[in-house]
Amino acid sequence: IERPRVLSGIQPTAGSFHLGNYLGAVRNWVALQETHDAFYMVVDLHAITVPQDPAELRANTRLAAAQLLAAGLDPEHCTLFVQSHVPEHAQLAWVMNCLTGFGEASRMTQFKDKSAKQGADRTTVGLFTYPVLQVADILLYQADAVPVGEDQRQHVELTRDLAERFNGRYDKGGTATFTVPKPYIVRETAKIYDLQDPTVKMSKSASSPKGLVNLLDEPKTSAKKFRSAVTDTDTVIRFDEAAKPGVSNLLTIYATLTGTAIPALEERYEGKGYGALKTDLAEAFVEWVTPFRERTQAYLDDPETLDAVLASGADKARTVAAETLATVYERMGF
Ligand code: ADP
Ligand code: NA
Repeated sequence: IERPRVLSGIQPTAGSFHLGNYLGAVRNWVALQETHDAFYMVVDLHAITVPQDPAELRANTRLAAAQLLAAGLDPEHCTLFVQSHVPEHAQLAWVMNCLTGFGEASRMTQFKDKSAKQGADRTTVGLFTYPVLQVADILLYQADAVPVGEDQRQHVELTRDLAERFNGRYDKGGTATFTVPKPYIVRETAKIYDLQDPTVKMSKSASSPKGLVNLLDEPKTSAKKFRSAVTDTDTVIRFDEAAKPGVSNLLTIYATLTGTAIPALEERYEGKGYGALKTDLAEAFVEWVTPFRERTQAYLDDPETLDAVLASGADKARTVAAETLATVYERMGF
């Protein structure tokens, strides 16, 4: 029996992934590679929708790949590659741009939010058609499912619409060109909040330095951030996101990181103070992150191995992508 195919991508951000990226996304990728035919990519083409320094982009792309491998992606169990190594992404994106209505693209709420922040003159056309490149990313691999958060649901809807549009227009009773993918909303995915303001998501752009846990920072620095996390004036360790966002965030992180159920943690900390929870969490984090940092560094210190992994990933990806693109071109009249 063939395993369902999934595809997911992550941006090569400056510096390291943060704890939200790991617990909310990368960790699920590691699990999915065992049950699915998984394609994972570092989306450097998406990164250039905002200006990038070339040397930094190159370094960040490798750093992202090194961290994905360090987190547990196994090239024997998934296909890991860099988006720009597979030129079919840009080629199919152009075709899809020509199938997308201008109004349809204009309704993408993420573009509206991001462009409003940047201002019209600094917003690129690339940012505008970013969702269409995402459509191409997914359709090239005939993915059955796309693991996404709620905020990406609209982009998967666009993917479905465009896949059906192409199939309807060009298939003419033949076999469908594209698999119409389903969003795979991972409900139990942990959402991690800022340690200093637990009402906002932990993020590179919005978190204060003390609220953001970068995976490659000195473990001691991160441990300190856990110990000084904002909680509340109550003393009870109980999961209640509305009334106790700080404590709930710590419980989520602890539970996800150590594979313990939250009720079991509530029981373990009954009658104990927040200090105990914070100290234990800091320790658990250091225990997890220390080998993670070592593995990341080992990949960075061995560029030949990293290059070989990415080259073989790109080869595997291209085999699938080229076949899809050939069918598309043939059906369109090229
Ligand atoms: P950032 O928000 O720091 O810019 P991205 O938007 O690049 O991070 O997100 C990369 C991946 O990490 C996405 O799959 C996103 O859903 C996930 N992610 C980012 N921040 C969090 C968070 N605080 N909690 C859970 N998942 C997150
Ligand atoms: Na797999």
